[in-house]
Amino acid sequence: MNKINCSFQVEKPIIRSLGLMTGTSMDGLDICVADIELSPESAAFDIKYSNTVAFPPELKERIQSALNCNTGLISDLHYDLGRWMADTVSAEIPKELIPDIIGCHGQTIFHNHNVSTFQIGEPSFLAESLGVPVISDFRARDISVGGCGAPLIPIIDKWLLQDKNEFRISLNVGGIANVTILPILDGENIIGFDTGPGMALMDEAYINAFSQGIDTNGKKAQAGQVHDDLVYQWVEDSFIQKSPPKSAGRHDYGLDWLKVHNHELETLVIEDQLATLCAFTAESIYKGCVPYIDGKNGSLIIGGGGSHHERLIHELEKRFTTFQIRKSDEFGIPVDGKEALGFAILAVAYVKGIPGNLPQVTGARKATILGKLTI
Ligand SMILES: Nc1ncnc2c1ncn2[C@@H]1O[C@H](COP(=O)(O)OP(=O)(O)O)[C@@H](O)[C@H]1O
Ligand SMILES: [Mg+2]
Repeated sequence: MNKINCSFQVEKPIIRSLGLMTGTSMDGLDICVADIELSPESAAFDIKYSNTVAFPPELKERIQSALNCNTGLISDLHYDLGRWMADTVSAEIPKELIPDIIGCHGQTIFHNHNVSTFQIGEPSFLAESLGVPVISDFRARDISVGGCGAPLIPIIDKWLLQDKNEFRISLNVGGIANVTILPILDGENIIGFDTGPGMALMDEAYINAFSQGIDTNGKKAQAGQVHDDLVYQWVEDSFIQKSPPKSAGRHDYGLDWLKVHNHELETLVIEDQLATLCAFTAESIYKGCVPYIDGKNGSLIIGGGGSHHERLIHELEKRFTTFQIRKSDEFGIPVDGKEALGFAILAVAYVKGIPGNLPQVTGARKATILGKLTI
């Protein structure tokens, strides 16, 4: 039997933590190992390993169809994903990097803001294979105190990116896009919310046209023409117009959205479709931020897979004219590993008894420790 050592819980100032994230793009598992020093006010980290491992095609297919599955299939998938994460992490992480703790977000297959949320990937297999305690199911505790269970990354942005002198916006473009508004330290409240589509619409349109793959570096979108009339019409939708708190999922901006708008897109060549969807993503991000910018200048710090899409960066530069667009790498945070790093840090927050939600962001009645322990 594996002996699990929990003595690190209070004494160790620096905790080696492994974070695991699988986002709405369902592209794979982001893995990050970092040495973390955390106080309620700030976090310092030293990344030892960061990588993304693609889902095997069969597992990806099962995750994509999970929304329509019956209970038995979901239960099997929950355990099989847990087994696969344990096997993958065991194979990927060298012995000398075995962490003190693991923070595993899991794959969201359902999220009903404020009511319930469901992340799968049974953590027992990770705990058993690595002999390391796992913190998982981070969102439930926030919902139990009246919060939406999302977004959780804003506190990570506060700990890692909020600055004494500069107004910053942290932007993550995964399948869905979200921002954290980071006023100059000690100023106004931090605000965090989903702005609407991220890469999901472009990904789905690309698959429709080419059956597989992604628009690598946004090359096809670069070659297309933006149809501004469509962009300005689409950003009038009720989600984008709504004030935070708000969160979106693939059910809002994914295949279903494309079906509804097919009559507008089908007449365009694929390059124009991708360019127009890209501009829509950029415009909805900008629209979401406008109420907080108010003539300010500062930095827009981008992470997530969308950071590799050159046309998206260009569309953001056109809009955020008073902001410097910088990738999170510049701050030592790998663009593809930011959320995995975030959950590594939230696991440390659990161990240290530090609350992991920001009530003003999630709508919770109070700050609370997030996660559940599997030893
Ligand atoms: N080299 C690249 N060029 C263009 N787009 C990319 C590239 N790498 C990743 N992406 C985009 O980023 C998405 C994945 O981003 P990610 O941050 O992992 O999202 P999620 O958190 O939703 O899984 C891909 O589906 C793709 O649209
Ligand atoms: Mg991903």
